[in-house]
Amino acid sequence: MNILGINAYHGNASAAILCDGKLVAAVEEERFNRVKYAAGFPAAAIRYCLQTAGITLEEVDHVAVPRNPYARLGTKLFYALRMPSFAKERAKVLAKFTGIPEALAAAFDVAPEKLKAKFHRVEHHVAHLASAFYCSPFEEAALLSADGLGDFASSMWGAGFGRRMNFHGSVAFPHSLGLYYSAVTQYLGFLKFGDEYKVMGLGAYGEPEFLPEFREIVHSNGTRFHLGLEYFTHHRTGPEMSWAEADKTPVLGKMYSEEMAKKLGPVRAPEEPIEQRHKNLACSLQARLEEVYLGMLQRLHAETGMKSVCLAGGVAFNCVANGKIPSSTGFENVYVHPAAGDAGLAVGAAQFVWHQVLGNPRGFVMEHAYWGPEFSREEIRTAVKASRFGENGCGANELPEEELLQKTASIIADGKILGWFQGRAEWGPRALGNRSIVADPRRPEMKEILNRRIKHREIFRPFAPSILAEKTGEWFEQAHPSPFMTMAYAVKREKREQIPAPTHVDGTGRLQTVTPTANPRYWKLIHEFERQTGVPVVLNTSFNDNEPIVCKPQEAVDCFERTQMDALVLGDFLITRS
Ligand SMILES: [Fe+2]
Repeated sequence: MNILGINAYHGNASAAILCDGKLVAAVEEERFNRVKYAAGFPAAAIRYCLQTAGITLEEVDHVAVPRNPYARLGTKLFYALRMPSFAKERAKVLAKFTGIPEALAAAFDVAPEKLKAKFHRVEHHVAHLASAFYCSPFEEAALLSADGLGDFASSMWGAGFGRRMNFHGSVAFPHSLGLYYSAVTQYLGFLKFGDEYKVMGLGAYGEPEFLPEFREIVHSNGTRFHLGLEYFTHHRTGPEMSWAEADKTPVLGKMYSEEMAKKLGPVRAPEEPIEQRHKNLACSLQARLEEVYLGMLQRLHAETGMKSVCLAGGVAFNCVANGKIPSSTGFENVYVHPAAGDAGLAVGAAQFVWHQVLGNPRGFVMEHAYWGPEFSREEIRTAVKASRFGENGCGANELPEEELLQKTASIIADGKILGWFQGRAEWGPRALGNRSIVADPRRPEMKEILNRRIKHREIFRPFAPSILAEKTGEWFEQAHPSPFMTMAYAVKREKREQIPAPTHVDGTGRLQTVTPTANPRYWKLIHEFERQTGVPVVLNTSFNDNEPIVCKPQEAVDCFERTQMDALVLGDFLITRS
């Protein structure tokens, strides 16, 4: 049985396919159309999923769409009556969603009556929770979706038992931890969609001086919280998310009110310098998020008495808060879906249909995130031949694995910057050793070099470490697995000097724990680096330069040629500049 999950007409458009309950492929549309966070209809992602499963659209039995326009209809009508522009927007959304079968048929040039698939609507947070629980290894777990907004709610929680999930509660619009973080991110002068990461990184440079003020901006009580709405505008203007450039990148309307400036001081314009006050504000924003988020998890633990928790939703990407879960909530085991944002809805919706609608038992665990496109040796060879390596003084050699790993590890140990392209592309926003830029973590200057030569990011943003999983407890204060780079832990004090490049200013690292089963070749590379240097850690950042992570070999070659990377490994090829 084939179930296709589609996240369409929403940020992070994506598709996923389950064949007899096993995930076969999952990918974001942005990897194909090269528009970050792309929305619209994910035709290329669907095409890739069908090709990988070896089926046609007519052979799909069920299509799961993670949106239910009829969820919380009363609240939607209440806001529609107060805000005519909002009502118009909802009507447009509804028309698009009801037209998905026709859009699918048209994209694949199939007559609509030829589609035998049954269509299912799965509520946004139900799909988030399903993506976390049904991919986890836990037979029983508490569940939390902590998010911005979807189907008019921002959070939902419950408990999973085998094939079933029970839902215990939710927080409805306009109260939202995600929108709280986004509004203060805007107030601090970071206006782009996804800039919350930058502010989280900035917070490490500050003190929680404004925590009392932020406690009046978000009020909490166990699993419940509400915003001080006088500091926001989204409840008056509607959740304004538009799509710039013909339905492509998401743009959020202004969400903070003048009251926020009265409470916290002048708004920072994007071009203004970042002062200590801004760092303290970012720190306080994060500190209040942690109080509320960890408080929700503490209450959820007390209510369910469960040992494990599964997380999804945009707030579940807050690796700094997640890193505190094992030590401060009572939960011993944490599973965060690697695509915890809205891309992951495609997997969750499909799994919900398989387990909860159709009643099939569990049997799949997502132990790695490599569900995207891969390319054959021949395709890689073609990309190498088509490059201008020869003219640019680069040498390309195809090497046996052992020699490839020895040479590559010594290139990294020499302080060179390496592009590393292997196997299937990662699912979710983190590069996890298949589309990564890898560098020496022992060099304090590496962060500045990477930024100057390749990444062009704000200097206050940290880079991440990948560590051999079995060495985690020797280098970090926590040893709980973090295979998808969704947790930040304190680096042990005595180790900080050894890996300064991926250690953030507050002594933490957003680590990826690498096992030989999840990614054998990447594990071997780090192992070889350890053999040569004594350090079982490399610095890992995504293979891109202000664009979606590279997907095809040709894009990796283009990024290598465009930037000042020193070496590139494409499959078995090692390319070096002379
Ligand atoms: Fe969401």
